[in-house]
Amino acid sequence: MSKSEVKYYEPPVYLSEPEIKARVRELADRINRDYEGKEVTAICTLKGSVVFYTDLLKFLKVPVVCEFLGMSSYGNHTTSTGEVKVTLDLTEPLIGKHVIIIEDIVDSGLTLSYMLEYLRVKKPSSLKTAALLFKPEALKAKDLKIDYIGFEIPNKFVVGYGLDYAEKFRGLPYIGVIEAY
Ligand code: IMP
Ligand code: MG
Repeated sequence: MSKSEVKYYEPPVYLSEPEIKARVRELADRINRDYEGKEVTAICTLKGSVVFYTDLLKFLKVPVVCEFLGMSSYGNHTTSTGEVKVTLDLTEPLIGKHVIIIEDIVDSGLTLSYMLEYLRVKKPSSLKTAALLFKPEALKAKDLKIDYIGFEIPNKFVVGYGLDYAEKFRGLPYIGVIEAY
């Protein structure tokens, strides 16, 4: 599929709205239990995680400080070495905070590994990771630990619910699959 055909295409449903919502609620319940009595700094990684992040936030009962972090890979994603640059930085220090990184999808895992390195030096009290989607077959960062996983999915290209293909489909309420990918 060429990028100009994208706007005419309705990706078939891979995960429906109700399935996603139920799972997001389960993840939030686990976070509520794990962080009872604590304040959480939840970091939304831009741009793909925004929809997951805001839905998760609505189910969180623990006090949450919201932060947003923009990072982008240098050059071509498929040949990425995991070297990324910060395009939007945090607003507050993380020292002594309980931090959870909220990711849309972990593919090679290089982006999340880099983020962990970037955040660890800021000396949070604890640092955990949540990813709505995880493609185990694509994982290159073998020592990466994801504490909260929504769905393990096969190595297919998915869009919607924040995820894009050439900046399209982020607003789809479900997760669809680009079959020709
Ligand atoms: P990683 O560094 O390979 O784990 O890449 C993670 C980033 O690649 C995600 O945050 C997405 O922006 C993008 N990505 C990986 N797989 C997909 C997909 O199936 N659909 C949309 N974006 C994806
Ligand atoms: Mg992401």
